[in-house]
Parts: sequence; C-alpha cells; structure tokens
Amino acid sequence: MKLKTLIITGGNKLKGKVTVSGSKNATLPIMAASLLGKTPSSINNIPLVRDIYTMSSLLQTFGTKVKIKNHSIIIDPSEINNYKAPYEIVRKMRASIYVLGPFVAKYKRAKVSMPGGCAIGLRPIDLHIKGIKKLGAKIKMKHGYVVAEAKKLKGAKIVFDKVSLGATINCLLAAVLAEGTSVFINASKEPEVADTIKFLKTMGADIKGEGTSTLIINGVRELNGVSEYNVIPDRIEAATLIIAAVMTKGNVLVENLMPEHLTVFFEKLKEAGAKFKILNNSVHVFPHKGQLQAVDIITEPYPGFPTDIQAQWMALMTIAKGNSVIKETIWENRFIHVLELNRMGVDIKIEGNTAIVKGVNELSAADVMASDLRASAALIIAGLIAKGDTYIRRIYHLERGYENFYNKLRGLGAKVKIKMENTI
Ligand code: EPZ
Repeated sequence: MKLKTLIITGGNKLKGKVTVSGSKNATLPIMAASLLGKTPSSINNIPLVRDIYTMSSLLQTFGTKVKIKNHSIIIDPSEINNYKAPYEIVRKMRASIYVLGPFVAKYKRAKVSMPGGCAIGLRPIDLHIKGIKKLGAKIKMKHGYVVAEAKKLKGAKIVFDKVSLGATINCLLAAVLAEGTSVFINASKEPEVADTIKFLKTMGADIKGEGTSTLIINGVRELNGVSEYNVIPDRIEAATLIIAAVMTKGNVLVENLMPEHLTVFFEKLKEAGAKFKILNNSVHVFPHKGQLQAVDIITEPYPGFPTDIQAQWMALMTIAKGNSVIKETIWENRFIHVLELNRMGVDIKIEGNTAIVKGVNELSAADVMASDLRASAALIIAGLIAKGDTYIRRIYHLERGYENFYNKLRGLGAKVKIKMENTI
C-alpha cells in the first residue's frame, strides 16, 4: 500500500492571506441533527475533509439522500429505512455515535457500533448512554453494538458527571423530540454545541441556555429541515494557522474566524510575546522581535484552553525562552507528539499528564510520524521552522480535519511537498 508523506523544507516566513474553513466539529453534529427533520436541510460553509465524507457515507447507509456541492451539503432524511450504524464506518470516525440520539428520538430504535478507543485516549461513551437512558430509552450492548429502543422519550433532568461535548450533543438530539421538559446540568459550553443548538432552534426546537452549562429543552412534536444554515468557522484550524504564522515570524492575515471563540488562546499568545491584532472576523499576525517567552497552559473545557490546540501550542513552545509546563486534563494519552518533537532537537519530558518543554534556539528537521489529527498539525508547524527537510509520515490523519491545508500553507509561501511512499 502507498501512503502520503509530507515533506516540509523549513525556514520560510509565512506571508499573505488565508481563509479558515467551516468547523468540522460543528458540521458533524449538525449533519446528525438534520436526521430529525421532516424535510431536507441545506448546510453551508462545511469543510471538505475526510470526517465529513465519512459522516455522509454513514447517513447514506440509512437511506438518507446526501448531496455535497462546493461547501454545501443537502441532507434529505425523508426516506430513512435502516437504523444500523455499522462497525466499518464507526471505526473510522467516533462522531458516528451522534446518530444514536436522533434515531431513538425519531424512529424509536437504533443500533450503533460501539466506537473503540483511539490514539489520544479511551474515549468512553458512558455519559451518552446514561443520558439517553434517563430520557426513557432501553439500551443494551450486544456483539459490539449499542442497541436502543424507546416507546416514548420523556423529558428528564440529566446531570453530566463530566463536561462532555459529545454526550451533551447526543442527549440534546434525543431530548428535542421527547415529551416534556429536560434540564441538562453541567452541559458543554463549546461553540460547536451552541452552533448545533442554533441549528436545532432553526428546525423548530425549543432550547434555552446555549453557551451556558444549564440547558432547558422543551420537547416538540416534530422538527423541520433548515434551508440555508451557515456553520461557524473552525476555531482550531484558525488557531493552528495563527500559531504557524507566529512560529515563522510571519506576516499573515487569517480570515473568517470568530475571535470570541479563542479568548484564552489569544491571552496566552500575548503573554508569549506574539504580535497580532484582532479584527472583526480576522486576525493579523505580525513578526515579533527576538524570542518568544515560555507560557504554561492547562487544557480545559470551553472557555478554557482547548485540548485540540495543545499539540500546536507545544510546537510553538519548543522555540520559546525558558520552560513551559503543559498540562493535559481532557485526554489521557494526548502526548504522542512529544517523542516526535524530541526527534527534532527539543527536550520535552512527560510527568503524568504534564509535559515540560525546554525551549531551544532552533529545531532540526527529522523523520517523524503523525499519530492523530492535531499531532499532525503540530509536526507541520515545527517543520515550518526546522532546518532542513522534515518528513512527516502517516499524514493522512491531518486530512480528517484540515481542509486543503497543504495548499493553504503553500499559498503563504511554505515549502510543502507530498510524496507517495510504499508502506508495509
Ligand atoms: C470532542 O470529542 C471533539 N470531537 C474532540 O476533538 C475534542 O478533543 C473534545 O470534544 C474535547 O473538546 C468532536 O467534536 C468530533 P468529550 P468528544 O466527550 O465529544 C470524557 C479533534 O481533534 N467522557 O467532550 O468525544 C472523555 O474521556 C477531536 O477534532 C467520558 O468520560 O469529547 C474526556 O475526558 C479529538 N464519558 C472528556 O469526557 C463519555 O461518555 C471530554 O470528552 C464521554 C466523554
């Protein structure tokens, strides 16, 4: 089998304009939400990335009609005739579990393959199951599948033990059609949840409290499709591009983002000594003088520092002055990039869920291996300034969630090449 390897020749300062794509992690639940409609939904500003195509394939296995054109998708759920999300698709993308809530609510049954663990952690779904059970569904695990049935869903109080984006979404997608009122306590406040709520409200759902940790959902009898919904920009892609620009001492205008979704990130960036200006829906990065300062971060649920920017931040800290302490509190195994960054001449030590990065003056190119989506982005960022050619193998992880990323970087002057290589 041949796989793509990315080759980056470091040393070019990024320069120019780049546009952020729509949010992958908002599009996925919105696609699942569209299953709840009586009529088709049309969703715009979607990113053309592998996870979106995987979700499209999944929806099609149910009999849903899906059409993708440019950055829009039309989803027609009116002829659904199958309620099974098969292992072959779920194993490729954990967000497949989002179909559980809508199926139980609208079709009173679902059979969804249990997602396995993944490189960044165990990734349990107990909170999804517990919440949907509270709404009255009967759920059993059979032969690796979550098998659910419900005569009728009834509004309930769901207290999430832990803040979970996925569990909040799945329970919401069930509660919107339940009879009576549901109250969610300790719900996720992530912008992707708020965007899904906005979409559901446009469908006719009655939800209060978006953007807060308490959600009140008054169930409605039916929901309609939405004709023209625009997904929010991808805050993680935006932050990745901004870090790449800062790292190379570039002069870059990053367009189409919502700066209010990245408040803590911008504070940290300022503390590190980066020079940038926040505009209405763009950010202009200017070259900073001298070396950045080491800045500690702790990943936390929104509005805290996002775990999905931890690896990229670590890449930035490799060339900062001093030691930065990076604490990962969301995913127990999200430090695989550490060993790869160390291959580029850095000294990062791991103690439990904390990494201590000892900044160096320069990085040296090396052969490295990408292990997951955000780790791939971190290695690219490091490669942009490393002396020589950095070979990043297994770069396919990046293509799950970053649209047209190689070309975006090339457009800013980065030297990026793709090579197909034989693998065993
Ligand atoms: C979403 O995953 C994102 N994925 C992740 O982004 C992101 O890292 C994560 O939220 C945190 O922000 C998508 O949106 C598709 P969680 P999700 O449920 O929903 C624990 C990327 O790179 N938990 O908020 O699966 C869990 O172990 C991906 O784009 C339970 O214990 O994350 C974790 O510690 C990677 N039981 C914490 O909650 C459950 O039933 C937060 O997870 C569910 C979660």
